[in-house]
Amino acid sequence: MRVDWDIETAEKGGFDHFMMKEIYEQPKAIRDTLASRVKGNIVDLSQEIGLTLEQIQNIEKIHFVACGTAYHAGLVGKYVLEDLARIPVECDVASEYRYRNPIITDRTLVVVVSQSGETADTLAALREAQKHGARVMAITNVVGSSVAREADDVITTWAGPEIAVASTKAYTSQLIAIYLLGLYFAQAKGYKSAEELQGIVTDLLTLPEKVEEVLKQEKTVEAFARSIAKHNNLFFLGRGLDYAVALEGSLKLKEISYIHSEAYAAGELKHGTLALIEDNIPVIALATQQSVFEKTVSNIQEVKARGAYVLGLAVEGDTGLIKSVDEVITIPQVSDLFAPVLAVVPLQLLAYYACVERGYDVDKPRNLAKSVTVE
Ligand code: G6P
Repeated sequence: MRVDWDIETAEKGGFDHFMMKEIYEQPKAIRDTLASRVKGNIVDLSQEIGLTLEQIQNIEKIHFVACGTAYHAGLVGKYVLEDLARIPVECDVASEYRYRNPIITDRTLVVVVSQSGETADTLAALREAQKHGARVMAITNVVGSSVAREADDVITTWAGPEIAVASTKAYTSQLIAIYLLGLYFAQAKGYKSAEELQGIVTDLLTLPEKVEEVLKQEKTVEAFARSIAKHNNLFFLGRGLDYAVALEGSLKLKEISYIHSEAYAAGELKHGTLALIEDNIPVIALATQQSVFEKTVSNIQEVKARGAYVLGLAVEGDTGLIKSVDEVITIPQVSDLFAPVLAVVPLQLLAYYACVERGYDVDKPRNLAKSVTVE
């Protein structure tokens, strides 16, 4: 028998790059992050979160603080916690938060999100928050990391080691941790009925299989990625949670393909960005949020009318979008709340294939580090 694999190839599990391996590990990372925290249809985080029922009910506001991709997970966290637990949420990048004299009290819960648990700004923000009397919770992928050691409570994401600089499975696992937190607080706050919450938990548990479904569209995304790789500018649009995911999709593309891209809240287009839309500029329009679907479609028509070439990202069965876009990628039926976990996957694949087509190093983009431990 002859084995052609060297150690690095073996570590990549047969994939050409760590990033692709990690994209494909997402169903497992999500399953592992959910495991043992959902009992029946109830979320139980009492083993990792020391807050009593009364302390949860007393939380006045939540601050999500993070950097990079983890910050984008925090943006989803704002929607999720406000929707499920009805607690006001702010989300800041750590390098802004630590220097901006934020209003922190002993009824503020600060949630720092960090894959590595070692990012200098995130760690400094954690310390600053504790100094002002806040309780700090960490969502991190590394057990025993600085952030994990210093936080008052820790929710570990079980994504396993992430090697590629561009974060993929850590992000989707962070989203799962945030959903679990939102549901745990929602159970304590009682704004939604037990039945309603159990229905949401049932949906949450279907996400790993649905991510597997999305991954089957790899070839469609690859073809689109190759067609946009020659462009130097493009736009991502979305409303609500789609906007948060658009920001992450744009970051992924910038990080590894070096294509300049911007993500816009679709309703904000006409306040400036529309001026940049010209013939054949690629626009990736996320339209997974049913609550604002018609509004998003009308924004898509605005960019189409100005010559944009639009890839729409929609939920299966949304025939309303097809006639307004040039190409479409669908994700399985899912509630608005959980759509980010599915919607981000084609955007990760898009960044990957755009990078490959342009001939850059997927796993080690120029000027970037996996973990930024200095300011
Ligand atoms: C670096 C990485 C990003 C990551 C960010 C925050 O910039 O390249 O992928 O999102 O740091 O890292 P953290 O480990 O705190 O999540």
